[in-house]
Amino acid sequence: MLVVDGIPGDKSISHRAIMIGALAHGESVFNGFLCSEDCLNTLAIFRQLGVQIAQNNTQVTINGKGPKGLKAPRTVLDVGNSGTAIRLISGVLSALPFSTTITGDASIQSRPMGRIIDPLTAMGAGIESKGQLPPLTIHGTSSIIPNFRYTLPVASAQVKSAVLLASVAAGQSVSVVEPEPCRDHTERMLALFGASVDVANGVIQVGHSNLQAPRGVIQIPKDISSALFFIVWAALAEQPMVLNHIGLNASRTRALDVCRRMGVAIDVTPHDGAFEPMGDVTVHANSQLVNLDVPEEWVPNVIDELPILSVLATKASGVFRVRGAAELRVKESDRIDGICRLIRALGGHVEEYDDGFDIHGPINLNQGMAFDAKHDHRLAMSALIAQHVYGIQGPVHGLESIPTSFPNFMALIQAMPAQSPKKLKT
Ligand code: S3P
Repeated sequence: MLVVDGIPGDKSISHRAIMIGALAHGESVFNGFLCSEDCLNTLAIFRQLGVQIAQNNTQVTINGKGPKGLKAPRTVLDVGNSGTAIRLISGVLSALPFSTTITGDASIQSRPMGRIIDPLTAMGAGIESKGQLPPLTIHGTSSIIPNFRYTLPVASAQVKSAVLLASVAAGQSVSVVEPEPCRDHTERMLALFGASVDVANGVIQVGHSNLQAPRGVIQIPKDISSALFFIVWAALAEQPMVLNHIGLNASRTRALDVCRRMGVAIDVTPHDGAFEPMGDVTVHANSQLVNLDVPEEWVPNVIDELPILSVLATKASGVFRVRGAAELRVKESDRIDGICRLIRALGGHVEEYDDGFDIHGPINLNQGMAFDAKHDHRLAMSALIAQHVYGIQGPVHGLESIPTSFPNFMALIQAMPAQSPKKLKT
């Protein structure tokens, strides 16, 4: 049984650890922080906003002084490649009584911000941009409107969290209505810091509250989206594998259900006591895989895993059908285009739709391949998993994006037992 211990901390939770720790009063200590470029940019931004944060490897200690402890930065804030950082931090900045400009790399400067500009301006902030794209200049206000209620037009945890954080930073209560449930890390962490959070019938209500750092060390689980690369490797290589301390928040685990429905046997052993569910994941070897129609209501829950699940689909019989996933077009790159290009580079047949794709498996593997991940970390890692597990050579461009979410990915994949070239179709 292969044991994979090196999956890094959860990206979504690591961003929120810094933000909510900074908005709270008192000292918050988190273990298992993800030291990737994206999360380190968030950490650097809150230091620029005047918050004292000590970092010792994966432990971060945040000395929060409440929202009033945040000061106008001297320079433009730069999130690098992180959509989560720009959208959530814009929420926080909307409630602070100064003006700030926030931007990021070329990919960030092409990502839609109308989805946060609309609610944040309705709440009272002023936001300047060209064509609703970054850079954003945010004129924050200490009079965010009380009891703001917002219905999300897209199932987006980033938009939900921007609205929640703006109200929390302003000391106001707020409700957000979700069309489909999406990841709830913000709500959970706010509750851990003493906020009153009620969730019923798709409505999240957060009361006005003074956040307080909880006592003791808060453990951040390992990132299930990162773990999925190795879960898929194990399923394709038919090598039993165990991965420890993986985040098992139900708003993130549908990818395990997709794998199970495709015939991958996966057991989960939950651990007790953490504020975010976590446990050990065991993948058993199984050569008989079948594709499926991914239920549309699962899409928000598996949105980040669709690139690597598409690699799993190359070995399964039948059609891997994804619809209702137009959001993939506005991620770090256009991931529908990227997934289709990857499947074709591997030798497969795929049909592209505006909001999804059909992959016909099992595919007739090419012996060599070339692929451009277009600076998208999840596409780059998906391509490398496919190459490694199928023993295919060829150039993959865009690998420099991988440390945005998974700094030790290259070391981990190189430590996997080498695989000989394979044929899926005879
Ligand atoms: C994230 C939410 C998701 C996800 C992203 C991280 C978060 O984006 O794709 O990688 O941490 O809130 P959307 O909320 O835009 O769907």
